[in-house]
Amino acid sequence: MQHYPDAREINASFPPDFLWGVATSAYQVEGAAYEDGRGPSIWDAFAGTPGKTYQGETGDIAADHYHRMEEDVALMARLGIGAYRFSISWPRVLPQGRGKLNSRGLDFYERLVDCLLAHNITPLVTLFHWDLPLALQADGGWLNRETALAFADYAEVVARRLGDRVRWWATLNEPWCSAYLGHGSGEHAPGLCDLQAAIIAGHHLLLAHGLALPRLRAFTRSGAQLGIVLNFTPVYPADGRPETQESALQADAFHNRWFIEPLYHGRYPEVLFSALQVQPPAMEATDLEVIATPCDFLGVNYYTRLLVRASSPTREEPISARLAHETVAPVPGACYTEMGWEVYPAGLKDLLLRLQQDYQPKALVVTENGAAFRDEWDGNEHVHDGRRVAYLSQHIQAVGEALAEGAAVRGYFVWSLLDNFEWAFGYSKRFGIVYVDYPTQRRIIKDSGYWYASFIAARRSSS
Ligand code: FCB
Repeated sequence: MQHYPDAREINASFPPDFLWGVATSAYQVEGAAYEDGRGPSIWDAFAGTPGKTYQGETGDIAADHYHRMEEDVALMARLGIGAYRFSISWPRVLPQGRGKLNSRGLDFYERLVDCLLAHNITPLVTLFHWDLPLALQADGGWLNRETALAFADYAEVVARRLGDRVRWWATLNEPWCSAYLGHGSGEHAPGLCDLQAAIIAGHHLLLAHGLALPRLRAFTRSGAQLGIVLNFTPVYPADGRPETQESALQADAFHNRWFIEPLYHGRYPEVLFSALQVQPPAMEATDLEVIATPCDFLGVNYYTRLLVRASSPTREEPISARLAHETVAPVPGACYTEMGWEVYPAGLKDLLLRLQQDYQPKALVVTENGAAFRDEWDGNEHVHDGRRVAYLSQHIQAVGEALAEGAAVRGYFVWSLLDNFEWAFGYSKRFGIVYVDYPTQRRIIKDSGYWYASFIAARRSSS
């Protein structure tokens, strides 16, 4: 390993029960897409459609985690990882989305949970990380209110099997992406390009979360921590012009407040619909109350920020045209990841403090943070990814500072344990702290993996 700053140099203190974890999701790592009775999902259909993903790549095999689960858990244990956030594939459990249970699907997750617990690794289950059963899409998917009811039933099915052992539960991962990237921009499954549809899908996703909470509560152990995971892209104005301030506010409503406001304040942000020039979603009288059912934690996914300034609307780019802002990129002097995302650790500290102040969640958990870089494996034992080490250490430092200033942060999860299927980018982006050589499925711990292990070990010995 090359020389990197000592993990103990991070100048922050974390409570002894702070969760130090890694994250993955079912479709991105499992593979085994046609095994043991799993039904198809919208991502199988989308990735299988020519032109939708990088070089037509799919999650059919992915990192083969379904078959290598024990090996991967042993790897986590070797690194001293304290918690593992994974998602459950809805169509593995209910191949048609509702109705007949495929117990072999649940058996896999039960084995995974037991294996984690045997290694003293805390499981954090995400029930929906975008792989909607295709059968539900045939009935309209998230555009159909019934999907929210089906999700609550599915949540109960999983909780009945795992609720005695799993303490941490997240309903949805990044509903903004399912709603907007799936229905507004068409970059993700199911690939629709209709902003109004994105708003409707977003409402049903929120409703699904709210309806699932009491069902989870009823079938999980006492002290279970129930929450939702949102993605945030903090927006900063690039200049002091009033029109720039205004466009930053609108961009913030779209990127950050669309989901958190209904969840924590029981209403949509006022400017959202006018700025996007869409109608509010149709809703029933108690929907907003259901959506605002109190949670135990808010999961925060953070990768980058947006620096914006006012621009005049153009017809070419629907979102920026409607929101009348343009993004300043590249920011002079800034570093960028392989995704083209600016490295901006201060954004994570600002975000956590703002969430604490504006929404007072009972607890915050950083459920994803990480970076893609062009990693090269030397063919032996090494992948030198110093930029990822720097990214992670700077962001962990930012979390520590937010904690010291009053944000109730309880955990931090690196995205990702393994290199994996990065949605529309296929396997072209590597986020893992463990390298995956796809032809052989060999795992090689990157320098960042060793660094994270030494960081966690140093916390343990000092607490
Ligand atoms: C998040 C997703 C996750 C992964 C990272 C890079 O938006 O939740 O699945 O793709 O981005």
